[in-house]
Amino acid sequence: MEKKILRAGIVGSGFAAKFHYEALQRVFSTKVEISGAYSATPQKLLDFTAARGLRAFGSLEDLIDHADVIHVCTPPVTHEPIVMAALNKDKQVIVEKPFTGYFGDGSETFNGETFPRAKGLEHCLGSINRMLQAEKAGKGRIMYAENWVYAPAIQKEKELLQKTGAQILWMHGEESHSGSHSLTYGQWKFSGGGSMIGKGCHPLSAAIYLKHVEGRARNGKPIRPKTISARTHAITRMPGFKNEGYLRTTYKDTEDFALLHVIFEDGTIADLFASELVMGGVHNWIEVNTSNHRTICNINPNTAMQAYTPDGKYFDNIYVTEKTETKQGWSSMSPDESWFTGYQHEMEAFYRSAAYGDEIESDSRLASDSMATIYAGYLSAEKKGAEVEITIL
Ligand SMILES: NC(=O)c1ccc[n+]([C@@H]2O[C@H](COP(=O)([O-])OP(=O)(O)OC[C@H]3O[C@@H](n4cnc5c(N)ncnc54)[C@H](O)[C@@H]3O)[C@@H](O)[C@H]2O)c1
Repeated sequence: MEKKILRAGIVGSGFAAKFHYEALQRVFSTKVEISGAYSATPQKLLDFTAARGLRAFGSLEDLIDHADVIHVCTPPVTHEPIVMAALNKDKQVIVEKPFTGYFGDGSETFNGETFPRAKGLEHCLGSINRMLQAEKAGKGRIMYAENWVYAPAIQKEKELLQKTGAQILWMHGEESHSGSHSLTYGQWKFSGGGSMIGKGCHPLSAAIYLKHVEGRARNGKPIRPKTISARTHAITRMPGFKNEGYLRTTYKDTEDFALLHVIFEDGTIADLFASELVMGGVHNWIEVNTSNHRTICNINPNTAMQAYTPDGKYFDNIYVTEKTETKQGWSSMSPDESWFTGYQHEMEAFYRSAAYGDEIESDSRLASDSMATIYAGYLSAEKKGAEVEITIL
């Protein structure tokens, strides 16, 4: 069969734009032609496109007109308008995590720490609804770039659930590291929150996805999250925080630690951590305890390759793994990080969906469950961990 040709348009020219570009090189089911990129920072856009021989577009509209699949690789505050612009032109859209959120009232005095969380939840649900309606009304589909869903360990757990008919009883997991590189991260008006949304969305979405899978396998319909109790803390902004220079401390009005306790419709539970307080590289894992098996899904670090050097200078030009402070001594070298994180698998799957109509594993329903849970979580954290009902859209 002739491979279908799809034109990709990348919005953004930062970290996510780069790994989307790399992942596109590993899409094999379709022929991808990258039309080019558009970004709000002209010089960064030119650097990004020149290095890859891509066309730099002067406007979002122009890029959308020249592409079939739009990649939203921009800060969370911009996701909804870009997704809407793409859907309104019947384009397929791949949107980075977190799907959306509440980004304040636009005033100079907006403070992410003090706004009423009920208002944030209401606005976030409004934003989700608008995108779901636009998706329903047109031909374009939302593909939610939650790479954890496509990480091989999570996809293997999917197979276990489907073949064993297990009930997941308790999951616990985490995404943590020593802090984000993006300057917009840490300012609520751009990021829509701190660790809970920026990092917690990953293990949370994986947990919700696996309960969706379990529900479909056992009863033909997904098991969805019902309530959440959450706590958030701003540890690096405490007056007594001992800053030794290893952790990022650039968070203006967001939390750098979050704890989420989620109860699903069937009464089973997930406990998830997210933080900017962990050294030694990205710490991404989820453990799944079920009625007939237990798995520990390590995304980072994993032991596919262990490396040792007596002096970090030997590895100066060698990529070891994301966000380690030093290369000296033992390290968990990732021989193919994008494979373990699921970046290339999600891209391959999204292009199969866009070209041939394959079912989308990480779709707008998962994105919306995940965001509704997180903003209910912020309301719970405001109430110091009281249980809050999750609105399922
Ligand atoms: N899945 C993952 O593992 C992962 C990892 C990192 C980032 N992300 C997500 O990717 C998104 C981007 O993060 P990043 O780290 O690349 O940020 P970044 O700061 O490195 O880059 C953001 C880019 O967006 C551009 N931009 C900002 N506003 C824009 C607008 N209105 N229109 C067009 N371009 C605009 C900027 O010019 C910049 O090029 C975020 O949603 C983030 O959460 C996901």
